[in-house]
Amino acid sequence: MDHILAIDQGTTSTRVIVFDREARPVASAQREHRQIFERPGWVGHDAGEIWRTTEALLREALAKARIARDRIAGVGITNQRETVVVWDAATGEPVADAIVWQDTRTQPIVDALAAEPDPATGEPFGAERLRSITGLPLASYFSAGKVRWILDEIPGARERAERGELRLGTIDSWLIYQLTGGAAGGGLHVTDVTNASRTQLCDLTTLDWSEEALDVFGVPRSMLPRIVPSSGAIGAVRGVPGLEGVPIAGVLGDQQAATFGQAAFAPGDAKHTYGTGGFLIVNTGGRPVHSDNGLLTTIAYRLGDAAPVYALEGSVAVAGSLHHWLRDNLGLFRDSTEIEGLASSVPDTGGAFIVPAFSGLFAPRWRPDARGVIVGLTRFVTRAHLVRAASEACAYQTVEVIDAAAADTGAPLAELRVDGGGSASDMMMQFQADLLGIDVVRPENLETTALGAAFAAGLATGVWGSTGELRGLVREGRRWAPRMRDEDRERRLRLWNRAVERSLGWVD
Ligand code: G3P
Repeated sequence: MDHILAIDQGTTSTRVIVFDREARPVASAQREHRQIFERPGWVGHDAGEIWRTTEALLREALAKARIARDRIAGVGITNQRETVVVWDAATGEPVADAIVWQDTRTQPIVDALAAEPDPATGEPFGAERLRSITGLPLASYFSAGKVRWILDEIPGARERAERGELRLGTIDSWLIYQLTGGAAGGGLHVTDVTNASRTQLCDLTTLDWSEEALDVFGVPRSMLPRIVPSSGAIGAVRGVPGLEGVPIAGVLGDQQAATFGQAAFAPGDAKHTYGTGGFLIVNTGGRPVHSDNGLLTTIAYRLGDAAPVYALEGSVAVAGSLHHWLRDNLGLFRDSTEIEGLASSVPDTGGAFIVPAFSGLFAPRWRPDARGVIVGLTRFVTRAHLVRAASEACAYQTVEVIDAAAADTGAPLAELRVDGGGSASDMMMQFQADLLGIDVVRPENLETTALGAAFAAGLATGVWGSTGELRGLVREGRRWAPRMRDEDRERRLRLWNRAVERSLGWVD
């Protein structure tokens, strides 16, 4: 029993990776799934397709790993967070497409809630009360408004939910339900604390669903999964060839998993992941820290019955998905492998800036009224400049959340640990170090998200003994030191801020 299988179900693709005791990937399989853009601002996923893709990738990775079933000690699951699925408890059929975290259709629900009076006091309910319970500002990003939308808009959904016929879950819940037997086999209905903390329905201090939040969003309690720790005996796989009976022993939302996979176990430890979006997480230890600078308060992880560990998070809605947009919607290149060559073929962006406010702006600005802009265009600007401007936009947005975290904690980061697909870009990492004025450090294994889920499962099943042991398994890959002159950095940040100003107030 010396291997762990990790499932990383992300926004654009799913990966299955088998890790050995040295935390080295011995086999992996990956596939993209469909992004459904039915209307402007809508982003959907077909939950059935996500499960079928996961099943196929499990078969593929297990075949590549060529190890006996009894060498797999456990399964770890990590997932895109906030994205919500509502399904029929009897048939297991989703009642609608999953509503993805980037989707902005619930903005009117969120605006109406912000204006509603508090039933207890008659005062405006205010986002503040909800934030003090859940750690999250009122925004279209989180799951609760998405569930409300499904209950309000899908014919019959509210009545069925009130009769106890529907279940809801983030993608971890959906996968665990399927992995443990689904509708036919009495699949488990659970979610881990980190995923629960992203729904805007979970009380951060009791670690249970908040009656008050459920009331505000009109979500019946019977729809909700049971909340379990991030590491522990969660259930056993049923009905998946090659994994029958293997314990599901680690579950974490993907950003928390990356934090775990970077061994960021001490208060003050931080990481930034460049995925579909960009996400900074700073471990704040056993205490939820309220942000005065636009960050979220969230749960980093909970190991078994131990006290939870909290974090501050800076969530940037668009990072890698900007490159996907340049590829898929504008056709600037055909394959993502071309990005690095194009971006580093020019010394700068030729004066162009892209502010990718496709879903408004998330942390630290929280501006739902923003929309994407490209500014500074002249006839000189080529596609290479635009591709570079997209990479630079990821770095500028990272600076904003890092500055916010430093303002909240009073402790500027000494260096930035990075990971995720975007961190493979040497050009972008040098630019990031230049803009931040601190070292940027990339681990040897960029798949820290899957590794974090594997670590959580491996701790619970005895593959690894302690977080101290895990720390020794995270090996530094490369480091970039800043080399930009101060005036240059200041000038660029000033121009970036001017570009952001142009994106604001676009939606009435
Ligand atoms: O909060 C959304 C986040 O979990 C999505 O992560 O890696 O798919 O960009 P990713």
